[in-house]
Parts: sequence; C-alpha cells; structure tokens
Amino acid sequence: MTETILSVRDLTVTFDTRRGPLTAIDRVSFDIGRGEILGVVGESGAGKSVTGSAVIGLIDRPGRISGGAIHLRGERIDTLSPEAMRRVRGRRIGMIFQDPLTSLDPLFRVGDQIVETLRAHTDLSVKAARTRAIDLLAEVGIPAPERRIDGYPHEFSGGMRQRVVIALALAAEPELIIADEPTTALDVSVQAQIITLLKRLCREHGTAVMLVTHDMGVIAEAADRVAVMYAGRVAEIGPVAAVVREPHHPYAVGLMGAIPTLSQEADRLSQIPGSMPRLTAIPKGCAFNPRCPKVFSRCRVERPEPILVGASRVACHLYDSDATRFPSPLRGGARGGGGADGTVTLDPAPPPPSIPPRKGEGRIAR
Ligand SMILES: Nc1ncnc2c1ncn2[C@@H]1O[C@H](COP(=O)(O)OP(=O)(O)O)[C@@H](O)[C@H]1O
Ligand code: SF4
Ligand SMILES: [Mg+2]
Repeated sequence: MTETILSVRDLTVTFDTRRGPLTAIDRVSFDIGRGEILGVVGESGAGKSVTGSAVIGLIDRPGRISGGAIHLRGERIDTLSPEAMRRVRGRRIGMIFQDPLTSLDPLFRVGDQIVETLRAHTDLSVKAARTRAIDLLAEVGIPAPERRIDGYPHEFSGGMRQRVVIALALAAEPELIIADEPTTALDVSVQAQIITLLKRLCREHGTAVMLVTHDMGVIAEAADRVAVMYAGRVAEIGPVAAVVREPHHPYAVGLMGAIPTLSQEADRLSQIPGSMPRLTAIPKGCAFNPRCPKVFSRCRVERPEPILVGASRVACHLYDSDATRFPSPLRGGARGGGGADGTVTLDPAPPPPSIPPRKGEGRIAR
C-alpha cells in the first residue's frame, strides 16, 4: 500500500445501557492508504456507521471507544480532546452523509458555507475563498457555478446537493473522507454519477476514503479494497477484486452472491437466511454461526481471529488448520458457486462431527 493515512487497530465501541455494556464494535482493524477507497459493507446493524463515527470522534454517550487505537497519518486521534478533534474534522477529515442536509445549513447560501469552511481551515482571504469555492463547485460538476454559488440548499436537486457536500468535504483538502451511505437517498442513475465523481476526485486529490454502504454494486464500482462487517466485527477484508470475485468468509460469499450493477436493484441478501443478531444476543464463538451453512463445532465456542488467505484476511475457522483440536469441514474450498440465474448456492454444510478427533487425527483444513 502507499502511505497509510488511516490506521484503525482493535477498535472497540461500547454502549452503556441499563442492561449493561453492549459491544457494538468489537476489535475492528483496518488501514486506508493515500488515494485509496476502502468500501465498508454489511447488512444494517453491522456496525458500519458506528465505526465511521468513531473515526471522526462523534461517538456520543451512551457510546464510548472502550478499546483500540485510531491513527491519522501516524498521529493518534482517538485520545484527542473534543476541541482538538473538532479541528481535525473538516480540516483533516471530511464527511459526507446520506442526507446532504446533515452537512448543509438550509438557512445559508451554499457558497457562504464553503467560504466559511475554507476560511476556518485555510489562510485564504474572503475573495480568494469565494474564487476557490466557485472552482470547487465547477470541479464537482455544478453547472454555472458563479451563479449557483449564491443559491440556497433547497434550490438544488438531491444529486446536486450531494455534489455541494462533496465540494464542502474537499474544501480544506482533507487527508481522509468518511462517506456514510452517500448515495442511498439518490436516484439510481444519479448514484452512479456521484460515486464516479467521488472516486475521480479522491484519486486526483490523493484523499483516502472510507466508503460505508450496504450496496455491493457501489463497492464493486468504486472501492479498491473492501471490509465486510458482521455483528461489529470484520469478517473479511481484502482487495475488491479478491473479495468480490473470490470471497472466502461464508457471510461474504452470501453477500457477494448477486451483485447488481449500479443501475440494477436486487435483494442481495435473500440467500442468507436469518438476520443480524441484536447486541444483546451476539452468539458465542463466531457471531455468524447460527446463519452459517458451514458451521462446525469449533465455531460455537471459539471466536475466529483473522487469517491471511491469499490477499485477504478472513476471520473464519475454515481457514485455520488447527484441526487437531477441531476438525474443519472444509473440503475443496469453502466457496459456493454462482448459479446461472445469479443466485448463490452455498455448499451444503457437512454434518458437525459428533466425536472430536484424537490428537493428530484431525483433517487439515487446506
Ligand atoms: N446510540 C446507540 N445506542 C445503542 N446502540 C446503538 C446506538 N447506535 C448504534 N447502536 C447499535 O450499534 C450497532 C451498529 O449500528 P450501526 O453502526 O448504525 O450499523 P450500520 O451502519 O452497519 O447499519 C447496531 O446494533 C445498533 O443498534
Ligand atoms: S465456518 Fe464457522 S467460523 Fe466460519 S463463518 Fe461459519 S460459523 Fe463462522
Ligand atoms: Mg449505517
């Protein structure tokens, strides 16, 4: 990888509730390099947004970062004071959310908002900042930017508003952008334009991007690498080509089953029965075990740690050859095949072994 911009190590986020502490993010680790887009994907409730909020220092009570470390270009940021973190946001980390009105104030002209951001984070004069704001609006594809700069947010369409937000996020030349479902609220055709724009600008500016989405089409289109999250943990992380075309973790296999293009809609997760566990009921061992077609005895007792499999890191016991204690059912690859109709058929799970093998008898997993 090129220079590491964001490094997240063993990030753990806990919500203190009346029922006791609940772990929403559980030892999550990943890096994002300069100019790189890391897609973060997973079903609703997987922990994508909480991870993004932790990086930008916006975990509010009852939530708290209870473990791990976050470094931005080598500088630890998860321990900064709220005031210092406020300076990091906007200047060093830009944010793009699903609803552009989260970032834009409806009462102010869009140009004034960009100028204000530029003035807060750079040495530009008002005049120079206005010129720069027009350039930025042009760069994100707003037609007639010298006129539109004096428009109010409600005078822009949803797609154009999100372009303004991208201009705002890029204004201070941040090192990192956190984009949380940036296109989910937009028409499908506009989604593709916005993702293409984000990708191009981040390449040109060398900005690292954490692109949170539940949409595998967006990931396949935009990301360099992808992290698949499940129940607050990273199930698999690797180059997008590897994870999308050759996923290893059974959850990733199901998720990648039928990737639509940006112009299609599909029920992507229909192949995986069941749903994400509540924080109060995360299964012991592998959190995915009640839904996993490959589950075996070890999965119910021991949490899988990430293992390097090809170019990816996969948290699944199938890829661990510690078969002397627990036999792995993996034979001839854990992956399911894609059906002609685009559906995924996960290989049928072999019956769990009823008698644990004696030492030295276990099958080797690969
Ligand atoms: N303020 C909160 N209090 C308690 N639990 C929360 C809070 N915010 C998020 N969670 C829980 O954290 C988990 C991860 O949520 P989130 O990151 O929003 O999921 P995603 O963005 O992947 O859909 C969910 O189980 C959610 O219910
Ligand atoms: S095989 Fe076991 S460890 Fe791997 S995903 Fe399934 S339940 Fe989890
Ligand atoms: Mg979310």
